[in-house]
Amino acid sequence: MHRQHSQVLEYLDNAFKQEDDLLQNIRECAPKEVRNMQVGPHKGKLLSMFMRLLKAKSVLEIGTCVGYSAIWLARGMNSKGTLCTIEKSQKYCDIAKHNINLSEVANMILVFNGDGLEIIKETLLYAPFDAIFIDANKLAYLEYLRIAKSHIRLGGLIIADNTSAFDSIYSDDEPKDDKFRQKLYKVMRQFNQEISDDKNFLSNMILTPEGMTIGMRIR
Ligand SMILES: C[S@@+](CC[C@H](N)C(=O)[O-])C[C@H]1O[C@@H](n2cnc3c(N)ncnc32)[C@H](O)[C@@H]1O
Repeated sequence: MHRQHSQVLEYLDNAFKQEDDLLQNIRECAPKEVRNMQVGPHKGKLLSMFMRLLKAKSVLEIGTCVGYSAIWLARGMNSKGTLCTIEKSQKYCDIAKHNINLSEVANMILVFNGDGLEIIKETLLYAPFDAIFIDANKLAYLEYLRIAKSHIRLGGLIIADNTSAFDSIYSDDEPKDDKFRQKLYKVMRQFNQEISDDKNFLSNMILTPEGMTIGMRIR
């Protein structure tokens, strides 16, 4: 029987709870307009586990928001590692820096303010990356993917959130309701196809409510 995503998530967040007071506070106090955009405890913990498996020392995140996922990522990384995280909005950048400074991983995180496709050049000093987490403007995901493929190490992971385009990609028919959703559908269908077709990557999607695509560079 199909269960509501919200019911599944509520169960997972309670049963596998590992969000401490700091992260809970950051998530709940984020400005209202971005509060639901954060990965939340379930995906945050998954990100942390992936970083630990990779023994990640150099990671790139595109889409910092207020630093919630950055802290999860950094907590899974080698404590001598560096996480570069990019955020376009000055306002969210300022909040992220404040939040990150409250955490024990502040010395590992560099916040870059600017457009992802532009400012990414400044982070390449830290490439090749062990992992690249794509979670910014959705319509630029294909561009981010192509850049990410060139800067991920062998065995490294490209992780992209929200790749089910509000669940629309599971149908062969594109959504008819609005133009943004149509574009999003096309981008995410192509994103998943492109990484899946690439012989250099082993890829799949984790069935979170928003879909999280993972590609491991294998050659
Ligand atoms: C889904 S939120 C990121 C959530 C964050 N990863 C978390 O889970 O805590 C997307 C963020 O990308 C930022 N963003 C939007 N367009 C961007 C761009 N062109 N370059 C960089 N960041 C961008 C938004 O301001 C927003 O804060």
